[in-house]
Amino acid sequence: RPRVLSGIQPTADSFHLGNYLGAVRQWVALQDTHDAFYCVVDLHAITVEHDPKLLRRRTRVSAAQLLALGIDPERATLFVQSHVPEHAQLGWVMQCLTGFGEASRMTQFKDKSAKQQAERITLGLFGYPALQAADILAYQASHVPVGEDQRQHLELTRDLAQRFNSRFGRTFVLPEPFIVKDAAKIYDLQDPSAKMSKSSSSPGGIVELLDDPKVSAKKIRSAVTDTGREIVYDPENKPGVSNLLVIYAALTGRPVGEVADEFAGKGYGDLKKAVGEVLVEFVTPIQARVRTYLDDTAELDKILRRGAERAREVASVTLARAYERLGFVVPA
Ligand code: TYM
Repeated sequence: RPRVLSGIQPTADSFHLGNYLGAVRQWVALQDTHDAFYCVVDLHAITVEHDPKLLRRRTRVSAAQLLALGIDPERATLFVQSHVPEHAQLGWVMQCLTGFGEASRMTQFKDKSAKQQAERITLGLFGYPALQAADILAYQASHVPVGEDQRQHLELTRDLAQRFNSRFGRTFVLPEPFIVKDAAKIYDLQDPSAKMSKSSSSPGGIVELLDDPKVSAKKIRSAVTDTGREIVYDPENKPGVSNLLVIYAALTGRPVGEVADEFAGKGYGDLKKAVGEVLVEFVTPIQARVRTYLDDTAELDKILRRGAERAREVASVTLARAYERLGFVVPA
């Protein structure tokens, strides 16, 4: 079976709707057809200042959300990045292949570093995409399900794989992004020109899966819509309404066009009410399942330990091959 890998950062108390619709929903679907590896990327989470207690909690909450959303540890390998030391080891190798200029052009780095005082920008943040490349290449993944914002990092990953292969001999599979068109980018409810983002959206603009469902429905009701009153799917001229249509379509598993037709002739209020309702229906059972997983962290940690064991079996083979190709002496 072809292999997929993806990761999510444990940097917020909850995933938001963009994380789910843009990425995790595809993760769930792909475990039926692919050999799937999914990780909570805690090494990436320390590239900006962090609180250790929060990180530990958010790592478990992230894993619990993935399980609650449908990742099945029997069918997919779910693990925590720091449990598999090969990520950091291969990450170093990837850093040594990455050009300074190349890393400087990463838009995520530019955005994140623009928000920090210069002396707080770390080498870790700069090297972030090299570690991400290692995450992917360690598993020889052919596809990487992510949202649109990760496209540039995946292009770099391919470049690094190709560079290594041509200098040292064929070692890595060149991965392709797997980006679902319809929900590749979910927008901020208060500013439909910006993506919904844990670091930059205002509280009113972001729908968190673990937030009180009533609060989320209220945020939907207060979403910025567009001038006029017609409901049409037209992201260019009607970004607010189109975003709500995309969310509604994704949550109900229907094509956007069909949903837009259903709302033709109705008002913005009707659409918002409907989105709020499907959202509440969706998150309520998820939240109950997350609580169950968090009530028994021993069981959760066991699932993650088993995942890490399986992940290491694959990643260690790749790392050993890469080390050998690089000219490292194989320890006797
Ligand atoms: P992260 O943690 O920011 O986001 C996790 C996933 O959610 C997607 N996403 C969105 N999709 C649609 N609309 C949005 N508004 C939206 N916001 C976030 C992201 O594209 C991502 O797929 N660098 C990665 C984590 C990572 C990774 C990896 C991913 C580390 N190693 C290896 C893939 C493979 C990140 O910061 O994702």
